[in-house]
Amino acid sequence: MAANRPTPPRPSPPNPANRLFYGDNLDVLRSKIADNSVDLCYIDPPFNSKRNNFQIYNNQGSEDRAQAQAFVDTWEWGDEAVAGLDWITDIAQLQSGRLTEQTVELIRGLEKVLKRGALLAYLVHMTQRIVEIHRVLKPTGSFYLHCDPTASHYLKLVLDAVFCGQGGDFLNEIIWKRKTGRGETNHKSSRF
Ligand SMILES: C[S@@+](CC[C@H](N)C(=O)[O-])C[C@H]1O[C@@H](n2cnc3c(N)ncnc32)[C@H](O)[C@@H]1O
Repeated sequence: MAANRPTPPRPSPPNPANRLFYGDNLDVLRSKIADNSVDLCYIDPPFNSKRNNFQIYNNQGSEDRAQAQAFVDTWEWGDEAVAGLDWITDIAQLQSGRLTEQTVELIRGLEKVLKRGALLAYLVHMTQRIVEIHRVLKPTGSFYLHCDPTASHYLKLVLDAVFCGQGGDFLNEIIWKRKTGRGETNHKSSRF
């Protein structure tokens, strides 16, 4: 995805170079990263794999439960999802230009189709972060999202709604070629 959209630059403090942030990336993006300041963003987020083996710490106190929950890959409709859906469908976000109409309508449509369950909770979680990533990317910036087929097609819809709805371009899908075998076909996507 290339950001490539005509967002008017807002005066913001420069991002601190070479800093590692710890915690929920939504909080970090919203509170620490300025608009139009990032050249490249790569994420390897949870895939909605329904596995919990991504937990990187388990000795935090209850005050950190919210973060710990974000580090597992099992999703359920709950308070975080409700708050995320409320944020996305809040008319104020649309009016402020923070969200595109396509993004709001997509999530509304997915709510009708998928109902309020695990997949929608995952997509609401990802949409909020993709919106912030779009905000922080420079108009010349690029975004790589690493995922698997569990939710890739839904994520492509979200990416198109957020990026292409604001002049960004989808550039390509990169497939990880794990092995060479018989019956190989030529695939239009790039392969590694
Ligand atoms: C698919 S794993 C990728 C891990 C790493 N890229 C690797 O290859 O080892 C997803 C990672 O995202 C982290 N994660 C999940 N939700 C997060 C969030 N809201 N903010 C920051 N990191 C998060 C998880 O802790 C996990 O390490």
